[in-house]
Amino acid sequence: MMSYRHGFHAGNFADVLKHLVLVHCLRHLLRKDKPVLYLDTHAGAGLYALDSDYARKTGEYRSGIARLWQQDTMPTAVADYLALVRECNPADPLSRYPGSPWLAARLLRPCDRLLLHELHSSEHPLLTGQFADDSRVKVLPEDGYRGCIAAMPPPERRGLVLMDPSYELKSDYSQVVATLKQAHRRFATGVYAIWYPVVERRRIADLETTLKDSGISRILLAELGVSPDSMETGMTASGMIVVNPPYTLENDLRDSLPWLADTLVPAGDGHWRLETLVGERP
Ligand SMILES: C[S@@+](CC[C@H](N)C(=O)[O-])C[C@H]1O[C@@H](n2cnc3c(N)ncnc32)[C@H](O)[C@@H]1O
Repeated sequence: MMSYRHGFHAGNFADVLKHLVLVHCLRHLLRKDKPVLYLDTHAGAGLYALDSDYARKTGEYRSGIARLWQQDTMPTAVADYLALVRECNPADPLSRYPGSPWLAARLLRPCDRLLLHELHSSEHPLLTGQFADDSRVKVLPEDGYRGCIAAMPPPERRGLVLMDPSYELKSDYSQVVATLKQAHRRFATGVYAIWYPVVERRRIADLETTLKDSGISRILLAELGVSPDSMETGMTASGMIVVNPPYTLENDLRDSLPWLADTLVPAGDGHWRLETLVGERP
């Protein structure tokens, strides 16, 4: 029984970093005039109403995307991401938040493909309905980990995989790494982006160690936190791990992360990390 619904969390501080990184990586891939595959292992509903019962119940977007909404000046990567969220809200004020499938579909070209995996029986039809007229998109009510491995290597030989589980199942921590390893063995030049929550710091430290020992090179980690690490208060930070990041990503994040930490956490508890977990191997 799957209970997680992303509608409770859409547009929160974790989505801001996740989607900013996603937009940056996709833009970079699309610079070349060659088709790409975008694969979402955990796609969600694709688009979220911020006046829904879900969003209103938690109000998480208010300390996420809503804090960026009234800002005039911001780092380039944030501005680019925010411009897409504004496109999703043609009539100001902020009332909808785009999920990763919406953002990817908006950026990809007619020659590109999207493979979206979503298991939840309520989210899957929403996603299917949203892309019913888009021949680039295939929505699969299947396990995204297995679907990812099966799709590698993509015939395009260019592509990005987003792995964005909710980590309700503790097995997700090991499954993201196992899936990355297998997919990377088949498609080593792909860009892989893995989202993670910091609920128990020890789990993330273990994840980092496993990745360092994986034999995979070129791994960047970016993290944004809203309160100090704790075992008591739920998610205090979240991050993105990117394999084969665009060479522009690190610099753009170095500008964006401190600004995001200050803007999203005006009380001053915001913190961030930006680290090369594994560099280029000789
Ligand atoms: C965090 S949400 C995805 C949010 C989305 N990627 C975004 O950024 O807008 C995780 C989703 O994964 C779905 N899910 C959970 N396990 C899955 C699996 N093994 N394969 C595919 N989808 C799964 C859940 O139903 C949920 O909708």
